[in-house]
Amino acid sequence: MEVVIVPDATAGGEIIAEAVAGLLRRKPDALLGVATGSTPLPIYTALTAKVSGGEVDASRARVCQLDEYVGLPAGHPESYRSVVLRQVVEPLGLPGTSFFGPDGTAEDVQAACEEYDRALAAAGGVDLQILGIGTDGHIGFNEPCSSLRSRTRIKTLTEQTRVDNARFFDDDIDQVPHHVITQGIGTILEARHVVLLATGEGKAEAVAQTVEGPLAALVPASALQLHPHATVVVDEAAASKLKLGDYFRATYAAKPEWQGL
Ligand code: GLP
Repeated sequence: MEVVIVPDATAGGEIIAEAVAGLLRRKPDALLGVATGSTPLPIYTALTAKVSGGEVDASRARVCQLDEYVGLPAGHPESYRSVVLRQVVEPLGLPGTSFFGPDGTAEDVQAACEEYDRALAAAGGVDLQILGIGTDGHIGFNEPCSSLRSRTRIKTLTEQTRVDNARFFDDDIDQVPHHVITQGIGTILEARHVVLLATGEGKAEAVAQTVEGPLAALVPASALQLHPHATVVVDEAAASKLKLGDYFRATYAAKPEWQGL
């Protein structure tokens, strides 16, 4: 796992947006897996600026979701479909047809999950998956003790995650759904490149356990230790509990520029 320590969230967004731009230059119709939450916003802002500035052509890019709430009505502003449309698909000027995700309104949720795994495979698999991390170490909505080989399926949110996400629902925890569909950890690990961004002190413990702790279902993000191309980008605050911080800084400083992320 490569750990890149950046000064702040903006720098993290820039470095990851440049990796996405590089991918699109090599593979214009790349499939980009996107995460929601506050953390990835600087990535989407930086990528949109690169597209508007003509640095990269994203017109053939394809976008897919990581997870979705179950039971929010279609078009609900906080459904992850709406969020990704608003924060990624529309700013990049992509047609709605280049974007897909699991159906959180399906009556048969299990069938919708299986269908989503099939859709990802039929699309050729995710080229670059952007991830955030929950304060409890979750990726997507794979809460602690998720199977490290799980596929896309329904999960029940922990109370902590519902508290964390209540800010998107008028600070009213009762509005936060209990159930979600999430790409499984096994599904996420099939992406060709996984890039996790974590910023702020609140993520420092989860980052330390992910990077330096044992591989454990209790910390779902630690499964990235199994991935041959996983990059963890953290700001100084999120890096503050890493024992090997100096090593990671020196390694990145000495990295040949041609290697990219
Ligand atoms: C939700 C999403 C995750 C995201 C997490 C952290 O649980 N399902 O993909 O990583 O929130 O969000 P934030 O970046 O706002 O802290």
